[in-house]
Amino acid sequence: MIKAKYLTKITEINKLFIEDVINEGDIAIDATMGNGYDTKYLAEKVGENGFVYSFDIQEEALKSTKKRLEKEGLLDRVSLILDGHENIDNYVKDGVSVVLFNLGYLPRADHNVITKPDTTIKAIKSSLKLLKPHGIISIAIYTGHEGGMEEKNEVYEFVQNLDQNEFNVLESKFVNQINNPPQLILIEKKKEY
Ligand SMILES: C[S@@+](CC[C@H](N)C(=O)[O-])C[C@H]1O[C@@H](n2cnc3c(N)ncnc32)[C@H](O)[C@@H]1O
Repeated sequence: MIKAKYLTKITEINKLFIEDVINEGDIAIDATMGNGYDTKYLAEKVGENGFVYSFDIQEEALKSTKKRLEKEGLLDRVSLILDGHENIDNYVKDGVSVVLFNLGYLPRADHNVITKPDTTIKAIKSSLKLLKPHGIISIAIYTGHEGGMEEKNEVYEFVQNLDQNEFNVLESKFVNQINNPPQLILIEKKKEY
């Protein structure tokens, strides 16, 4: 059953869509590790036989996520990678069921370190190839910071042009919120291509 609290945060709404897409033993990617909330969620979902690759360009993110995972006994099923998600191809070779992007900056850190359109789109392209049929890429997008709107526009331009025979692309957004509410894009792969 859907609880009301799930509709307050885009990351919680996201879980409604991906909950049944990740199974025990799966491989998943957190393309923007940050403080590790999403990595922890994925690590729990894939179970002890699954694996999570998690990327960030800031040492701070790795430190904070490592601490979170250690506390929960989840560290052994996660690879914490200090590199940009645009280099996913160098690390992940097997099919994945879910790839999460939570764009923007790391809360409580340097707000000038943000995800950028070119590298985000390169990472989405790599993720599309790694995705198993019926796997999902989810992209939480924020536009309130400098550069955020530009990134949103470029990501939209890219996903709107994905072939509908190969991918379903869905948008979720708050329509009654002021101050640049976040938006969510979900891409489902329909089949191998
Ligand atoms: C909104 S935060 C992610 C929040 C995170 N999902 C969580 O659960 O805490 C965005 C993160 O993307 C990271 N980032 C920026 N450019 C990146 C890149 N090219 N590759 C991977 N991560 C990047 C930032 O350092 C920041 O930590």
